[in-house]
Amino acid sequence: MYKVPRGTFDILPDEYNYWKYITKHAEEVAELYGYKPIETPVFEDALLFSHSAANGTDIVDKEMYVFKDRGNQPLALKAEGTAPVCRAYIEHGLFNLPQPVKLYYITPVFRYERPQAGRYRQHHQCGFEAIGDADPLLDAEVIALSKQFLRSLGIAEFTFQLNSIGCQRCRPDHIDALVQYYSRFKDEICSDCRIRLTQNPLRLLDCKQERCQQLAYNAPKTIEFLCSECAEHFQAVQHYLKELGISFYIKHRLVRGLDYYTKTVFEIEPYEEKSQSVLGGGGRYDNLIEHLGGKPTPGIGFATGIERLILNVRRQGVQVLNPTPPTAFIAFMGQEAKMEAMKLAASLRAEGIPVLTTLGAKSLKAQLRQSNSTQAKYTIIIGSQELETGTVLLRNMQNKEQTSVMKTDIVNRLLRN
Ligand code: HAM
Repeated sequence: MYKVPRGTFDILPDEYNYWKYITKHAEEVAELYGYKPIETPVFEDALLFSHSAANGTDIVDKEMYVFKDRGNQPLALKAEGTAPVCRAYIEHGLFNLPQPVKLYYITPVFRYERPQAGRYRQHHQCGFEAIGDADPLLDAEVIALSKQFLRSLGIAEFTFQLNSIGCQRCRPDHIDALVQYYSRFKDEICSDCRIRLTQNPLRLLDCKQERCQQLAYNAPKTIEFLCSECAEHFQAVQHYLKELGISFYIKHRLVRGLDYYTKTVFEIEPYEEKSQSVLGGGGRYDNLIEHLGGKPTPGIGFATGIERLILNVRRQGVQVLNPTPPTAFIAFMGQEAKMEAMKLAASLRAEGIPVLTTLGAKSLKAQLRQSNSTQAKYTIIIGSQELETGTVLLRNMQNKEQTSVMKTDIVNRLLRN
């Protein structure tokens, strides 16, 4: 027996209603804020991710699905959505458009993680990227968008965690202070953190091990080392958020799991916080486009995990819309009527009327039962008498009333209802 690979899942039709619900609202909010859709391939040059997210991050070191194709090209399944969008921005000269260029995507993302509730090896993200403007007002607008998106889904209980991790100019001083601080606890930090201490000290703040988390609380804070430009930017973002009525907490340990961020970083946490329950996160990446070979171009964005949104939508008991049932179910009696049912179904569908027909040779009772289960508004019944008179029997499935309708009138009759 084959099974779905560990950490992945099938989306069956009932569950799919939730997916449609999330993506529909993502599209609506994207339109409200002027974001256009973009789709990038499921795999990319492996270096795109390792170069942008950087070695020393779990995503690059431990979680990427890397493989060589038959032409020996090193490729990676999409490990996150921002770098591919930046690649496309450079590759297609989107810098020639009025800036910022606002793009959104709904995409699968692949990470070899330890599967648990809310953490998968293939998950899906709704992401939003605004590229080409450094104004802190854009940071506030992106956060406002994320809030409106979650609210539109009926998710009411979440908080914004905010931090600034500075820029290339001010970060080295913070890193020095971190190395000094953690060196004192070299024997207490986990083995991964001992490597982080030499390779990527900022990541020490992101460690999920209990002792390392305790140490992170008293570690030197990023905001104590911000240069004047970064400090002003952070002040402005906070000011705009307050003016927009968006509350937030400053979380000094927040550095995010990818290394391309500069200045603003934020995460959206549900009330009962667990590391695998963060609903979304993002921030500025003012050096990423240049780092990938483009001209210096600022950018900011965020992404939410669709599976985690669905978990919360379910938890909060939000009713999602069921798909519309078929207008009619066509039942028939006898082989000749079967042909007629088939032709009628084709002509109704050609008029855009969704219909289902039965198959095989079932009793009328069984066909009516089947019609009931599809929640069709009407059952159209064709028997020998209807064949003779060029009519069909139209049964209203709610009040059970039956009327004889000329076959030539059935389209109009169904379109009227
Ligand atoms: P990220 O924080 O790695 O950011 O992922 C975004 C969101 O995807 C997370 O907040 C979480 O909801 C969901 N997520 C991540 N990993 C998993 C998983 N294994 N299973 C289920 N859900 C998961 C990024 O990927 C950045 N590209 C976001 C961004 C956009 N930054 C700027 N622009």
